[in-house]
Amino acid sequence: MPATSVIGLQWGDEAKGKIVDLLTEKHEIVVRYQGGNNAGHTVKFDGKTYKLSLLPTGLLHSHVKSVIAPGVVVNPHALLKELDNLIAGGEDCLSRLMVSDRAHVICPWHLLEEAAFEAARGGNAIGTTMRGIGTCYREKMGRTHAIRIGDLILKDAFAAKVREIVPFKQKVLNALNPDGEQMNADQIIEEYSACAERIRPMVADTTAFLLNALDADKNILFEGAQGCLLDVDHGTFPYVTSSNSSGCGIHSGSGVPGRFIKNMIGVAKAYTTRVGGGPFPTELDNEIGERIRIAGNEFGTVTGRPRRCGWLDTVATRYSARISGVDSIVIALLDVLTGFDELQICEAYDINGTITRDMPSRCEDLAIARPVLRKIAGWSEDITGVKNFSDLPRTAQEYVKVAGELIGRKVSIVSVGPDRKQTIHVDA
Ligand code: GDP
Ligand code: IMO
Ligand code: MG
Repeated sequence: MPATSVIGLQWGDEAKGKIVDLLTEKHEIVVRYQGGNNAGHTVKFDGKTYKLSLLPTGLLHSHVKSVIAPGVVVNPHALLKELDNLIAGGEDCLSRLMVSDRAHVICPWHLLEEAAFEAARGGNAIGTTMRGIGTCYREKMGRTHAIRIGDLILKDAFAAKVREIVPFKQKVLNALNPDGEQMNADQIIEEYSACAERIRPMVADTTAFLLNALDADKNILFEGAQGCLLDVDHGTFPYVTSSNSSGCGIHSGSGVPGRFIKNMIGVAKAYTTRVGGGPFPTELDNEIGERIRIAGNEFGTVTGRPRRCGWLDTVATRYSARISGVDSIVIALLDVLTGFDELQICEAYDINGTITRDMPSRCEDLAIARPVLRKIAGWSEDITGVKNFSDLPRTAQEYVKVAGELIGRKVSIVSVGPDRKQTIHVDA
């Protein structure tokens, strides 16, 4: 059975959660394969709102097995807190979650190191979510002091690692900040071991599970976190996250070869948002941006920070769709653009007088890129109840068509509100 994947085409928060939830109906397994509790995926149905961070969105469906694959970084406290919230809300989800023994563990020193590194960058801070994501991935690549879920659940081996790592890390942290927090190895061992007891029943070789599931013709859905432009290799480096958040990360993060993914769905907002630092050519640091922020409720799910807002950038989204091998796209939050007399879409960049449709590799070049904007007439009708593409106002149809043409992919879904039902299947 071919697998499907949902990938963000911008800097995150494109409504991946809503789209994964929609598609989950037809899948038996949902997989998170990169990132960690830096993600915030919102799902709304039957008058209820769910906010998932580290957990796969599939957990909201009782027929689905949800997998946290090797490429994810796991904060055990955050995992259990999120699970407890779901259980308190009536979800019986413990038996439906599998956590890879190969996934890496976010430890207290990762959070302390990140705070020190971000502070040291001052005005050039990356603007991370402060969840220890980047420092945990750095540890994984460095190897010497990394801890995996498979180690966490072996009580004595875990304790020995913590006793070796803490004095080393404390020396580094004290050099960075002599007045900083002093870690207590015994306390860390006790707290993490208590988490390990609860996590142990969920720990599995998820790679073997997924490969066997493919052999058995099961339907698998891969849930991307963040977005292509935050990919550590292909995004707007260094203002990115520390994982491969484009389609490139599916194989390395899950162990499932890319050739099984036959349906790669890219999600883009009808405009653009970004949280944290870094260049953003179509940013609207004015009353139009503020109007979009209010209409779209653009405040971070994880950190509550106001999201920066701007026009749709099809240089960036076309690049994202191409590097991820996207088959079709979703244009989400179209309703947020209702009420503007005129809208604009970026179709090229002007970099020092050179017009280009290619994404510059250096963020210094992206920072001076001036967007070449195409003007499109707006619409004023309420579109939040529209079910068929042909019932959208003519100018809204035109907007979606132009977006699809400039991104270079067929638009398969238009989202006109946060609820599952507020979804238009184009050509359906
Ligand atoms: P994700 O990180 O990609 O899953 O996206 P987030 O959940 O962080 O952000 C998307 C936000 O937009 C959430 O608050 C959703 O409930 C909301 N949303 C999703 N689709 C639509 C839509 O079509 N219209 C509106 N107005 N809101 C939407
Ligand atoms: P979802 O899955 C939006 C951003 C942070 C920061 C940069 C690095 O909800 O789309 P990190 O903590 O990952 O080291 O921060 O990446 N960022 C996100 N922005 N949505 C997300 O996830 C994000 N995850 C990380 O704001 O700029
Ligand atoms: Mg989000």
